[in-house]
Amino acid sequence: MIVVASTNGSVGIQEAVRVLREGGTAVAAVEAGIRLVEANPDDHTVGYGGYPNILGEVELDASIMNGRTLETGAVGAVKGYAHPISIARAVMERLPHVMLVGDGAARFATEMGFTQQDLLTEEARHIWAARLKQDMPAETFANLAQEITLADWVRLATDPERAKGTVNFIAQDMHGDIACGVSTSGWAWKYPGRLGDTPIIGAGNYADNRYGAAACTGMGEMAIRAATAHSIVIYMKMGMSLAEACTEAMVDLRALNGRFISVMHLIALDKDGSPAGFSSIRNKTYIYQTADMAEPVEAVRTFVPIAARWG
Ligand code: GLY
Repeated sequence: MIVVASTNGSVGIQEAVRVLREGGTAVAAVEAGIRLVEANPDDHTVGYGGYPNILGEVELDASIMNGRTLETGAVGAVKGYAHPISIARAVMERLPHVMLVGDGAARFATEMGFTQQDLLTEEARHIWAARLKQDMPAETFANLAQEITLADWVRLATDPERAKGTVNFIAQDMHGDIACGVSTSGWAWKYPGRLGDTPIIGAGNYADNRYGAAACTGMGEMAIRAATAHSIVIYMKMGMSLAEACTEAMVDLRALNGRFISVMHLIALDKDGSPAGFSSIRNKTYIYQTADMAEPVEAVRTFVPIAARWG
């Protein structure tokens, strides 16, 4: 039994391991760990306290995948609910669909009894307003909701330094079943309705008991373009080791042409329970904990450079 997570999952990994030790499923462990990250107001990339879109609205994305059944659930651009991972799990378990977005996702969350909440903290609101006011005339800022040229402002205001956070959890339970979950508030100051890789199964999340699982943090558009999480699992299916599969996926990302290339970080697990982490930035870490370890280990991700370019 093991749980692997991005380092910001440290507030939830012990809870996920506790679920596994008590005989819970990998799906339950992943959800339990991610819920604690979503509730952490100090994490501005996930859940409550996440950075808002350009209009100052917090829009959340999440997905979960059961590697035993290959069932998945995802939500995108959902507003007013702090735990999109639980809504995603309910989509997987209660609906014949795999993804809900926007108002439909919020409506479903209400039907399922999830609690509505204001997700924009004073700290996140202050940072959002200060960043936009750096470039925008006061009148534009005051009338943002009516502003019809948001596209230009998104290009100007989006700060690649604040564009990349997400939380990843992968768990393998006592039956050997694997699940993978991802949750994010997406890019800070994004265009309303923008979805990254988090809710896109095969891009930011994929799990298949027969081979392993993978999840991404970083610039979601890149993982969508390269189908990164699914590629890693398919490379393992083709016979590559975990390290070879992750390296090959990073090489695929490096081969992306065109504009808007930034950073990518991966975590992955093979079917035998071995973890890995990769990053396009040196010295980035990930965490993992097996059921017989008292505490998680923080390990350095393997560095594979990807040259950043923007415009
Ligand atoms: N990786 C999260 C996002 O791009 O939204």
